[in-house]
Amino acid sequence: MQTDSFRPDALSIGTPLSASATRVMLLGAGELGKEVIIALQRLGVEVIAVDRYANAPGHQVAHRAHVIDMTDAVALRALVEQERPHLIVPEIEAIATDALAEIEAAKLATVIPTARATQLTMNREGIRRLAAEELGLPTSPYAFAQSLDEMKAAIGKIGFPCVVKPVMSSSGKGQSVLKSDADVEPAWNYAMAGGRVNHGRVIVEGFIDFEYEITQLTVRAADPESGETQTYFCDPIGHVQVAGDYVESWQPQPMSPAALEKARDVAARVTTALGGRGLFGVELFVRGDEVWFSEVSPRPHDTGLVTLATQRFSEFELHARAILGLPVDTTLRAPGASAVIYGGLDEAGIAFEGVAQALAVPGADLRLFGKPESFVKRRMGVAVATGADTDEARERAKRAASKVRPVSAQ
Ligand SMILES: Nc1ncnc2c1ncn2[C@@H]1O[C@H](COP(=O)(O)OP(=O)(O)OP(=O)(O)O)[C@@H](O)[C@H]1O
Ligand SMILES: [Mg+2]
Repeated sequence: MQTDSFRPDALSIGTPLSASATRVMLLGAGELGKEVIIALQRLGVEVIAVDRYANAPGHQVAHRAHVIDMTDAVALRALVEQERPHLIVPEIEAIATDALAEIEAAKLATVIPTARATQLTMNREGIRRLAAEELGLPTSPYAFAQSLDEMKAAIGKIGFPCVVKPVMSSSGKGQSVLKSDADVEPAWNYAMAGGRVNHGRVIVEGFIDFEYEITQLTVRAADPESGETQTYFCDPIGHVQVAGDYVESWQPQPMSPAALEKARDVAARVTTALGGRGLFGVELFVRGDEVWFSEVSPRPHDTGLVTLATQRFSEFELHARAILGLPVDTTLRAPGASAVIYGGLDEAGIAFEGVAQALAVPGADLRLFGKPESFVKRRMGVAVATGADTDEARERAKRAASKVRPVSAQ
């Protein structure tokens, strides 16, 4: 990968599978990684997809696929030394991020957006302390606890209702909303069972009675004139979460001018502090003109699947461009929506009926992720749709998703 003499930050792109290849390694190859890989493939990048199980969605569209335990620092380092990627792109949080920091320090590869960003965001404590204590961003009141007694003391300060989450978890796992003393012990036990790595540590957050929540997709990419990294914003994405898992999203979410300005200010500050290049999903709670920072993913966000229908470049294409040092364009083309398709059954190698009926819905499109095994609550696909407004798009996306029926193939 060579540096262009006119634009110091832009990289040339070589020929895949040759000595000049620009190599990118995805750590995590789920449905979001699959779309990033497709975007990279279109730009002539050589892609190596890594996940913890065989035939993950991204494995199926990459040049090479590997199955390793990505929390194993030794295995991760060995694979990086074997494949020699120029860029390492984490798609999930559960990675040996200390190994990424060593790889970055040794200049073996560039970690997207930075190794420090992956370290801070994999733990709710790291990102919360950065956002609230260092940057002074508005967040829910919070406290950390290491035992049931400490958690009771924390709730004493924060009060009910509150939310308890393991510091290392995602997709709502181990998370409870507490309304009274009777909820405390079950919430502790659930958090201990649901944490990703059992660190025995939780965050207690005051419950924010928001009107709506958004994902503010924010891109740190090279300005084509100066080559300097600039911050670009997509239109806000509204979404509905059920048990900590997104089921529906739409774009644009209407906001008051003051709330939109605050959302962008918070997003710019937190992503600038994390640094590097790439797309970030900044999760915010909004009520009237008030905005609270919740958390941030230094990578494409599941609610941003809607951008496959709505934007000139999807969040995946924006990520691919940004990490390669290329210019981005965050223009919204049409209002749109996404609706999740769940597995509905526990079985390997299922089939999908009703695909033709789904695609007959006006303005609708579909992604079936190709996951080798279905679970009742596993996300197996998504319907996206455009419309005259987000109400029409939401109705179309939900209608298209409802037409797709996962069935047993046995
Ligand atoms: N303090 C809070 N007040 C009100 N609602 C909250 C609070 N914290 C979380 N929620 C609700 O729970 C959802 C999931 O919370 P959060 O994003 O922290 O968990 P997560 O496990 O990281 O989820 P994901 O991985 O899906 O983003 C939020 O999108 C929001 O709807
Ligand atoms: Mg979240």
